[in-house]
Amino acid sequence: MSQLSAQILLDANRTISEISPLLFGGFVEHMGRCVYEGIYEPKSAHADEEGLRTDVLDALRAQQYTTIRYPGGNFLSGYNWLDGVGPKDQRPRRRELAWQSLETNQFGTNEFMGFCKKIDAAPMLGVNMGTGTIQAACDLVDYCNTPGGTYWSDLRASHGYRDPHNVKYWCVGNEMDGPWQMGHLEAHEYGAKAREAAKLMRWMDPSIQTILCGSSNDQMPTYPAWDRVALEEAWEHMDYLSMHYYAGNRDNDTASFLASAVQFEHFVDTLEGTLRYVKAKQRSKHDVYLSWDEWQVWYKGDPLAGNWTEAPHLAEEMYNLEDALVVGQWLNVFLRKSHVLKIACMAQIVNIISWLHTRGDDLLKHPSFDVFALVSNHARGQALDALVKAPHVETKKYGDVPVLDVSATYDAASGDGAVFIVNRSQTDSVLTDLVWQDGRDVKLGEGRQLAGADPKALNTWEQPDLLRAQPIAAPKVVDSKATIQLPPLSFTMLTTHSA
Ligand code: AHR
Repeated sequence: MSQLSAQILLDANRTISEISPLLFGGFVEHMGRCVYEGIYEPKSAHADEEGLRTDVLDALRAQQYTTIRYPGGNFLSGYNWLDGVGPKDQRPRRRELAWQSLETNQFGTNEFMGFCKKIDAAPMLGVNMGTGTIQAACDLVDYCNTPGGTYWSDLRASHGYRDPHNVKYWCVGNEMDGPWQMGHLEAHEYGAKAREAAKLMRWMDPSIQTILCGSSNDQMPTYPAWDRVALEEAWEHMDYLSMHYYAGNRDNDTASFLASAVQFEHFVDTLEGTLRYVKAKQRSKHDVYLSWDEWQVWYKGDPLAGNWTEAPHLAEEMYNLEDALVVGQWLNVFLRKSHVLKIACMAQIVNIISWLHTRGDDLLKHPSFDVFALVSNHARGQALDALVKAPHVETKKYGDVPVLDVSATYDAASGDGAVFIVNRSQTDSVLTDLVWQDGRDVKLGEGRQLAGADPKALNTWEQPDLLRAQPIAAPKVVDSKATIQLPPLSFTMLTTHSA
């Protein structure tokens, strides 16, 4: 281990953008054990009167999710929302084709709304653009958002929900570029269908905001032409373009994996360029922003087909330290790109590719759980354009990359802020000066750090708290400068306060 040194230069006047609270969203899909045995388990000792697991609700509240996307995912493209409303004993059991599972429909749209209320998150609903029709999409908006006096809103009332759900965010389909998607379409076909669906949905309720399916990831052969073509078809009717990406360390090349932020930024930059191109081409005054509404680490190869069983164990990844450090970088990228990125949803919030797992009545939190909670609890106000002067580490995939990955925030209203730093070196600690160039009298408050010697270390059911973000003593600020030692393989959060 050797010692490197670096500087992080901050200035409250050098801002990137207001941080959209919706960057701290999550995703619930009818897949594996996310819904059943995840958020909803009436037989659990933890179940409340609605059958929701209170231990899971508490964990989700600690993460302060601001929005939850539902009901899929690939599941969405075969879903008839009518299956999931009305008396539970009359809801159909169906073969679910995306994950080859049995869907009991005991949890549906209204139960989801109750769940969102309990964790104080805004619902983000998807409409089926695969096997579904424009009419069914419109009817769901009517069912959810019309106060009363129409067939669909009266049906909602008859199901026990007199007040409208007022769902503001609507995903018009899911990953429609993917040949694996039920009802997959070509870009121009999807763009035209999504345009007409969004048009009618907004006629039904002009206050809603709509999200167009972008490419499923940046490795798709149709990327980024898909995004351009779909946007050209639907521009004026959409508020956001979706991005999805799952990162992984398949080649066990940890140095490159720990530099994943390079790829995340590049993905955003390309789509930002695409948005600008289409806006200019359309001579439009309307803006479309990015919604990274599926993101997570996912590569460990667990099964994806449920053999037609209920709530099968699918994609239940166990996350280690290096995965958590990639999550830290991802969140840093969200803040650094907050001028164009306005929504992000971690996929998924429990059991499926999640940092939170249930087993019987027990709960396991992976190290990335802590990283997300630290950022979602403290990133407020404006994202700052932090200037980082740091030595580089060499990576096979991305060349030379700065050893530190940094984001910073400042909320002028409260005078509070935060700095989030990943030291991606596997061997070297970095003696880092934090310098406030605006000359403000700043104090550091809370310090938390997740660190370890082994990138593959993880929490297990036997040792559930091996890797937790620990409190650290925040250094003193003298003459607008503080110095902190950042260990290798670490994520550090420091809160700042105007003195
Ligand atoms: O989140 C799991 C799956 O990943 C989603 O269903 C799909 O949209 C994506 O491919």
